[in-house]
Amino acid sequence: MMNNTGRRGERVFIRTFGCQMNMYDSQFISSALQEIGFIEVDDAQEADIIIVNGCSIRKHAEDRAINWIHRYSRLDNKRIAVIGCLAQNLHDQLREKVEGIDIICGPDNYNELVDIISGSSREMNLPGRKTDVTYSLTDSYRPDRFSGFVSITRGCENFCSYCVVPYLRGKLRSKDPSAVISEILHLEEKGCREITLLGQNVLAYKHGDTGFTELLEMILRESPVERIRFLTSHPRDVRTGLFRIMRDNTRVCPHIHLPLQAGSDRILKLMKRGYSSGEYLRLLEKARDILPGLAVTTDIIVGFPSETEDDFSMTMEAVRSSRFDSAFTFIYSPREGTAAWRFPDEVPLEIKKQRLQRLNQLVMEIRLDILREQIGKRIKILLDGTAQRGENLYFKGRTPHFRNVLLDCGEVKEGDIVEVTLEKLEKFTFIGKCRR
Ligand code: SAH
Ligand code: SF4
Ligand code: F3S
Repeated sequence: MMNNTGRRGERVFIRTFGCQMNMYDSQFISSALQEIGFIEVDDAQEADIIIVNGCSIRKHAEDRAINWIHRYSRLDNKRIAVIGCLAQNLHDQLREKVEGIDIICGPDNYNELVDIISGSSREMNLPGRKTDVTYSLTDSYRPDRFSGFVSITRGCENFCSYCVVPYLRGKLRSKDPSAVISEILHLEEKGCREITLLGQNVLAYKHGDTGFTELLEMILRESPVERIRFLTSHPRDVRTGLFRIMRDNTRVCPHIHLPLQAGSDRILKLMKRGYSSGEYLRLLEKARDILPGLAVTTDIIVGFPSETEDDFSMTMEAVRSSRFDSAFTFIYSPREGTAAWRFPDEVPLEIKKQRLQRLNQLVMEIRLDILREQIGKRIKILLDGTAQRGENLYFKGRTPHFRNVLLDCGEVKEGDIVEVTLEKLEKFTFIGKCRR
């Protein structure tokens, strides 16, 4: 028996950087610590232990997290744990960069991390990787929103040439479907009306005979959850049957996040993405034939090694044709250990910045176009928080297409799903009215 009573009541603060995988992992750790008596606080000053869950996807992401670790390390009497992809990537270098780190722990060792923090184990360095581990939120998990995450896969084996994730998060593993279902039911019982299935590449989900679409159908059958989303989808793994399921089951939101990365076939090949831009565009065409109005969002990298002005204009062209609702756009950041780390012809930073700016401008114009077309429509939104604008307090929420809405109506409360008219736009956010 572990004796954790000595730690009961200790306060833990968790700061998370990076993608939803890290956010989910932080929720898991928080729930596992609460299970054994820890209290989560939202002010680092009040904490006995500070956990920084960091990201390494780009240099900038690393630097940001490291800056915060520096700040936290100056506070008195705190234990500091650095975890996540950042810990896996930099490991011992972290101790050289910042003094006073007590625990370093990568993404596959969070069960041990919980033991260490609760005092039943003294080991402080956990770089190792167990390729079979998956985590599920414990019963102590209390969602603070009406929307919850459920991780269905961990790891990635795609080895896109620029990307550090496969080196940090290991092999692809898929969670047992029954564990996925019980986690969804648990979240629902705690008030979630929307769940997002998470993985670096959710469409690669495979557990025995159950692939992603089978899992989705199972969730539709076995849980009453009202809205289902999933993130991220790799274009190479999309089967058009997915869009039929989305069309036939409105509980699955008509939105897909489908990273394009680049529009030039030469660059896509160097990136090892496994599709051409023509294939990508044809896929979108088929998807929208089956499910008209499907919202598509994407990720794009500019300034990949050897990217010429011609290559970049193909990205712009592909963006024009794809009509993305929105795009996360990034300047290529060389990551040591990846295949592209050694690629020659680095694009000068000035040019990378200019390309990013031109791309963002185009993405914004298309986005506005798409949003304007929606004005006047009535649509159901889930109220998932409030927002202050000037004097007024609004409810905020998202449409099934993942578009932002602020709402100004009387008799509603957070967690309600309400039908609103999209009256007008303020920048990229709709202002909705409940009455017709
Ligand atoms: N698994 C997802 C993406 C995970 S990382 C997928 O394959 O689509 C999120 C995004 O970060 C990527 O889509 C990519 O656009 C960007 N990214 C990854 N590595 C990068 C790097 N070295 N430099 C710049 N952007 C990068
Ligand atoms: Fe990285 Fe590619 Fe895996 Fe996405 S699919 S996490 S970009 S290697
Ligand atoms: Fe960052 Fe790791 Fe996610 S590197 S983007 S937190 S998988």
